[in-house]
Amino acid sequence: MFNSISAQASKLVSLTKSKSVVSKTKLLTITSGKGGVGKSTFTANMAYLLARRGFKVAVIDADIGLANMQVLFDIKPRYSLFDYIEGRNTIEEVISPTAYENISLIAGKSGYQYSSLKTSLVLTRIVDDVKSLNNFDYIIIDTGAGLNEYVQEFLSISDNILALTTTDPSALTDVYALIKMLSKDKEKLLICFNHTKNYNIGETISKSLVNLAKKNRLNSNFMVKYIGNVSTSANISTTSRLRKLFVQEFTHDEITLQLQKIIDILLKEIK
Ligand SMILES: Nc1ncnc2c1ncn2[C@@H]1O[C@H](COP(=O)(O)OP(=O)(O)OP(=O)(O)O)[C@@H](O)[C@H]1O
Ligand SMILES: [Mg+2]
Repeated sequence: MFNSISAQASKLVSLTKSKSVVSKTKLLTITSGKGGVGKSTFTANMAYLLARRGFKVAVIDADIGLANMQVLFDIKPRYSLFDYIEGRNTIEEVISPTAYENISLIAGKSGYQYSSLKTSLVLTRIVDDVKSLNNFDYIIIDTGAGLNEYVQEFLSISDNILALTTTDPSALTDVYALIKMLSKDKEKLLICFNHTKNYNIGETISKSLVNLAKKNRLNSNFMVKYIGNVSTSANISTTSRLRKLFVQEFTHDEITLQLQKIIDILLKEIK
């Protein structure tokens, strides 16, 4: 009992501390609930477009146990975030440069066991430490599928959360569960539809989610903000397989333009 109270207390202290880090670095957490909707692909391509606009971006691969961001960026990082968690390396050492100017990666590690990550809040510390360096304009966290405790920890420290979804009913059910959870203590959730050709479809579904939230009397101050859609293209998987970034290879494609529009809105929305 005492242990659990003291764990709660230290969690609160640490979370309060995390807010006090003074830094220019803004944090965006990408999540979905349902797996395979395109979070990692979206994160890597967004990071590239932000970097092209002159922003310095650090991507954190928070898909604990299934790291794939290093594949998308085509690098073999020497260290992963777990080398930092386990005290072997400094934060600077686990931030790997990529071949893309202005993009750094804090890599995950495939095969890492959840059970070996015993102490929670280390994830909060990593984000705080990257912020404290004051080197980056944006930290983008690519979470894994599901709403496990690690994903929840990243969500708890982020005021800018972007849910990527598809129009698939099971993906939407997961997004609604996310809205329900976040509406308790967050101000807003940004929503973006992948595999969705028509902008209006995403907008209509977002409105239905908001209506459902109203009907179920979720916190009325919580905002769900639709920020755009991304179509499907076979070239996305092809470029990923070739370990290249779609938006760099297809600069004028419909999808690249959709992502640029999303970034225009994001830049205004992110605090
Ligand atoms: N708009 C798109 N058009 C075509 N293929 C896409 C699109 N977005 C993502 N994909 C493909 O879908 C697959 C899953 O994408 P990705 O790995 O980014 O999803 P994820 O949400 O990160 O998955 P996980 O939940 O397992 O981390 C990949 O093969 C990717 O190339
Ligand atoms: Mg992923």
